[in-house]
Amino acid sequence: MCGIVGVLGKHQAAPILVDGLRRLEYRGYDSAGIATVNNGQLDRRRALGKLVNLNDHLVLHPLAGTSGIGHTRWATHGAATTANAHPHASGRIAVVHNGIIENFRELRVFLASHKIEPQTETDTETVAMLADWHLSQGLSPIEAAKETIARLEGAYALAFLFDGEDDLMIVARKGSPLAVGWGDGEMFVGSDALALASMTNEITYLEEGDLAIITRAGADFFDAGGCAVTRQRRTVAVDATSVDKAGHRHFMSKEIAEQPVVLANTIKFYLDGQKRRELISENLDLAAVDRVVMVACGTASLACFVAKYWFEQIAGLPVEVDIASEFRYREPPISGRTLTIFVSQSGETADTLAALRYCAGKASQVVAVVNVIESSIARESDVVLPIHAGPEIGVASTKAFTCQLAVLAVLALEAAKQRGACSDKVLQKLTSDLWRVPSLVADALGTDAAIQVVSAQLARHDDAIFLGRGAHYPLALEGALKLKEISYIHAEGYAAGELKHGPIALIDEQMPVVVLAPHDAMFEKTVSNMQEVMARGGKIIMISDAEGVSKAGDSTWHRIEMPQFESHWSPIVYSIPMQLLAYHTACEKGTDVDQPRNLAKSVTVE
Ligand code: F6R
Repeated sequence: MCGIVGVLGKHQAAPILVDGLRRLEYRGYDSAGIATVNNGQLDRRRALGKLVNLNDHLVLHPLAGTSGIGHTRWATHGAATTANAHPHASGRIAVVHNGIIENFRELRVFLASHKIEPQTETDTETVAMLADWHLSQGLSPIEAAKETIARLEGAYALAFLFDGEDDLMIVARKGSPLAVGWGDGEMFVGSDALALASMTNEITYLEEGDLAIITRAGADFFDAGGCAVTRQRRTVAVDATSVDKAGHRHFMSKEIAEQPVVLANTIKFYLDGQKRRELISENLDLAAVDRVVMVACGTASLACFVAKYWFEQIAGLPVEVDIASEFRYREPPISGRTLTIFVSQSGETADTLAALRYCAGKASQVVAVVNVIESSIARESDVVLPIHAGPEIGVASTKAFTCQLAVLAVLALEAAKQRGACSDKVLQKLTSDLWRVPSLVADALGTDAAIQVVSAQLARHDDAIFLGRGAHYPLALEGALKLKEISYIHAEGYAAGELKHGPIALIDEQMPVVVLAPHDAMFEKTVSNMQEVMARGGKIIMISDAEGVSKAGDSTWHRIEMPQFESHWSPIVYSIPMQLLAYHTACEKGTDVDQPRNLAKSVTVE
């Protein structure tokens, strides 16, 4: 988390830095700050809270200078306060950092022995203090930065700016992403290419352990061993104008509404033949693998969990799903017949990336299902399957989730085909069902008004339970996650059949229970569990189709009627009421929907 940006430019740096930070605010919004070199002197401005506060502060206290660095923070070490905001400065150095310096306490002890004491609670300030101490020992800025970086343990993307040096910035990366942008007599730095979208689309990504010395004339790159290296400069396709709400109140509602279109694009991209052949059929030997391991975090891991049902039921291929933060340290055996799939919207999630690195070289192949194709996860994978959701700005993942499901559905179909697990007739039916998904998602968006009515009442509760069976069980988990992250209502998802093994003790007349009950093979079983809740006074919000509602909707608190669609792909369609319920409940409660408290969109620390 945290976003960093830097410029050695021809124009005033402050507005450029703020524009870059605006594109990076999805990484954290606890505080923001910038530092510039103005007439040879370092100066900085910082403000607590969102970027708008920094902007206001800069109106009253402008900051001149054409060289600068900026930061938007997601607090790890030290509370969200102005003092803890970046850039951190010590003597002749200012620094911005994304990551965690794990040995900062040891470094503080070393600095204390030289009577250098911290002014903040952060790990990052230690980097500035150490670099300034190296300067005081007579090292040049470049040597001081190099010596400092050599002593750091943990994860970092760092940018250093120096007093008296208007044409020098030093950046380094280990564990956190960093991109250098090329302009005409100007150079830029950003946590990702999107941050630099309005400045340049000529990008060089730092590789793990790299350090770069940047001046307006260009950048020199050095690898982890200190050897000069050449890093590829490429033109990336990022749209500077795409960060726009298009008339919606929130990015989240825009992104929910976009799903019929983006899903249609994704499904067309993969089902139209050529791309499926090039990207999947010719790249992946799904008949040769004996199991699939899918690894991800949060909502992306729940997409994997839904897909597990598909791979196992349609393709007869065993699937293990793991959350990356556990997988990476468990040392699970991965054989040459294991296909590993890493799913990530951002492509930068630190735990998912580490899990991928663990599997590289062990698994038959490493496949990335990502939204950001310029991301670290994409760049380090053997096969990249883009989900084509377009920029997702709302912190709560919506369209990326359904597009991840669409890509995983195509993969499950391909696995079934290659393994001869289904007849041609069944495959054709599944394929034509998948083509229908975007229009069914459009129909499902028609539940919006009914869900607003439910949300107005749900918002008055402190807790909620979500139930589902089969592939709708992970969707119950996703519904609960979505609700808690943006409305702050405590919510839990359970497999409907698991309820009586403990959670049913929570049911009373105050407990709303959302039941995902499409009229499918599991319907009667799910309805039995629903009756058990109703018998104990629980308030049922039943989400089903016309047939399901007519059979079992009586006496429920609310009923949401979904389009009729008995298919393996039904969880994609049923994602919509999960998203709308969370969205409208959050709006009702007046929370910050797009930037909920304590969260960040890209989780680049473990
Ligand atoms: C929840 C949400 C998160 C992300 C998770 C993984 O709405 O968005 O749970 O799914 O942080 O992020 P990515 O997909 O970028 O790896």
